[in-house]
Amino acid sequence: MSAVRRVYRARRITCFKAENAPPTSLWWRCSSSCHTGPNSQVHKRHKKERLSCKPVLDHFEQQYSQELGDLWIPARSVLLDPHSWQYGVMLNRFTAVTDITQILQSQGFSKFLPQTDVSTLPCEASLSVSSSKYQAGEDSLLSSHCISKCSPSDSHPQPGRSSNANSPDLKSESLVILSHPSLQCYIHPYPLRFPSQAHRHGQLKQYYLLNAASLLPVMALQVRDGDKVLDLCSAPGGKALAIMQCATPALLCCNEPDPHRRDRLAKTLESFLPRSLNSRVIVSEQDGRCFGQSEAVTYDKVLVDAPCSNDRSWLYSCSSQQGEQRLKERARLPVLQAQLLRSALSAVHPGGVVVYSTCTLSSSENYAVVETVLNDCPGTEPEDLWEEIAIPLSKYFTFSPAHPGHRETLHNPPLQPQNDLVSSCHRRLGILVVPQPGMTWGPMFLSRIRRKN
Ligand SMILES: C[S@@+](CC[C@H](N)C(=O)[O-])C[C@H]1O[C@@H](n2cnc3c(N)ncnc32)[C@H](O)[C@@H]1O
Repeated sequence: MSAVRRVYRARRITCFKAENAPPTSLWWRCSSSCHTGPNSQVHKRHKKERLSCKPVLDHFEQQYSQELGDLWIPARSVLLDPHSWQYGVMLNRFTAVTDITQILQSQGFSKFLPQTDVSTLPCEASLSVSSSKYQAGEDSLLSSHCISKCSPSDSHPQPGRSSNANSPDLKSESLVILSHPSLQCYIHPYPLRFPSQAHRHGQLKQYYLLNAASLLPVMALQVRDGDKVLDLCSAPGGKALAIMQCATPALLCCNEPDPHRRDRLAKTLESFLPRSLNSRVIVSEQDGRCFGQSEAVTYDKVLVDAPCSNDRSWLYSCSSQQGEQRLKERARLPVLQAQLLRSALSAVHPGGVVVYSTCTLSSSENYAVVETVLNDCPGTEPEDLWEEIAIPLSKYFTFSPAHPGHRETLHNPPLQPQNDLVSSCHRRLGILVVPQPGMTWGPMFLSRIRRKN
């Protein structure tokens, strides 16, 4: 065991302040009305204007019109209209969710993740995806097993596949990699916000609300049963929960140095995970930059969901002064982000992977950080998420793989064959989800790097 000061916080069942969730019948009614479309009466009645912060908007305008080209104007219209934002509902596999599923479906929500019909997969392919089964309602884990042995209810017929995927082989391979039968997220075509769930004494919460693009870094991490996983920047814990929906790692170390945010993280874990997982899911309080030394060559997979200039919230900085202050901090972020990414690459085993993600559109916090670290760290290699994630999920998200100056999008592929190599190199640095009207998910950048030796 390393000398790290690792804090294990016993996840006691505490009574937190109940959130103001309306009773089922009320939100049902609200949802029904909202369901009539984005222009419904209910929607208009609840509309409260939030003022954007001018210095931040001006800064974004200048930077993103250059970096994103044509994608910026529609992205800006989404960022400036919080009432257009969509929310995903991630179900908690550690609870019984049948009632919630029925309500979601009756309100027009549908599952968004591709779920492969395992009966159509070759045996080796289905063997590559293992699924931990947890018996909802009981505080115990059943042993891991291959999805081909799961009951029919575990293999949901998949919703639409991307029409952009070219080769059937590639399509089915990508779907196998992406399929996590136990990770279930529902989305709605309209910006309808399902109410968050109040604390229920002695009971786990059934679902977690999130930006559906937040699941992509977790999917890219490909956590399998028995992996040792580090979530380097973990609070408030949405991605840690998503990891626990995908598989049962031998260890998930959730690290968060900020004490207030760490409390929130501990509460999230306590509200969603059964006590039987207490020994596998631990909370640590280190500066993430230290892990590379204190826990070198320890983990199979590390997620670096880095502190970043969160475009959505920064745009609504409470005053111009706060906005200006944040823009100053913004310039310093890439140094911290690169340090965290280097630390993660040292903490992972040779052969292991690090996923780096942010929720900003800013190229200097995304591609530039990845490029800098790859140059500094021989023996590391970026992996192609374009084929694995962007193509199969292009129906749900608008992806841009491009560096500034290489404005290729999924709907505007390179025409010149000689550009293919360049594009492929840029794609390997990462993919970016750009919010667009009707598909308001993101911003989310993700990149996967494998440590070779
Ligand atoms: C984008 S948020 C993480 C969100 C989280 N992964 C989730 O899905 O809920 C980034 C987090 O990194 C934390 N952070 C800031 N500096 C850090 C550092 N030096 N080491 C580790 N984490 C840090 C912040 O406090 C913040 O909670």
